[in-house]
Amino acid sequence: MSPQPTPSRPLDQRTLRDAFGAFPSGVVAVAASVKGQLTGIAASSFTSVSIDPPLVSFSIATTSSTWPLLREAEHLGISVLADHHDVVCRQLAGPREERFTGLPFKVTGNGAVLLDEAVATYDCSVHEEVVAGDHVIVLLHVHEVGAGDGEHPLVFHRSAFAKLHRDDLDPSQLDGRINGAEVDRGATSTAPTASAASEDEAAKHAEDAA
Ligand SMILES: Cc1cc2nc3c(=O)[nH]c(=O)nc-3n(C[C@H](O)[C@H](O)[C@H](O)COP(=O)(O)O)c2cc1C
Repeated sequence: MSPQPTPSRPLDQRTLRDAFGAFPSGVVAVAASVKGQLTGIAASSFTSVSIDPPLVSFSIATTSSTWPLLREAEHLGISVLADHHDVVCRQLAGPREERFTGLPFKVTGNGAVLLDEAVATYDCSVHEEVVAGDHVIVLLHVHEVGAGDGEHPLVFHRSAFAKLHRDDLDPSQLDGRINGAEVDRGATSTAPTASAASEDEAAKHAEDAA
């Protein structure tokens, strides 16, 4: 017998947060050195937006105490967190003065902060800010990108961290194209089976920032 669809529930905040949390995402560090001060947050709302011009976005809560500082940066660094960065992610979402303690990173000439061992990095500047309810959608112009060393991404899903099961991305099982671009059929599947672990801060974000 096929499974019955879950009946729809009224749209209260809890229901909405649960629905938002059902959508898996990666996590990035958004960071810069602003007037000599290391400034940054963890964000799961990062997404690609446009190829021409090159734009990406993330959304930040209007209550953020960091964004008013970070938005003053000449350039912002985006680092896609790797699956061993779960502790780093918690740190970047924790007390402001401790966010970069012990973290290996580099600062570019224009102040973007890029984490070591990231899956990918983007050197960006703020293109536009769009107020959207209790968040601001920040559109970033991408100036440079950096590729990692084949690290696998950290996945955020239902307020927990998880790892990708690479078999799911086996290019030989795709039709050869994603978003109109050729898929590299030479890639191999390497990573272990997915595993997830609950994280207090992640759960808090799902509640506070979803
Ligand atoms: C996994 C994870 C994802 C997060 N994603 C976002 C996000 O997309 N937008 C956001 O405003 N805050 C997000 N946060 C919370 C921020 O990292 C940070 O804790 C928050 O901005 C509060 O700090 P602030 O007042 O210094 O800005 C996330 C936290 C975690 C743990």
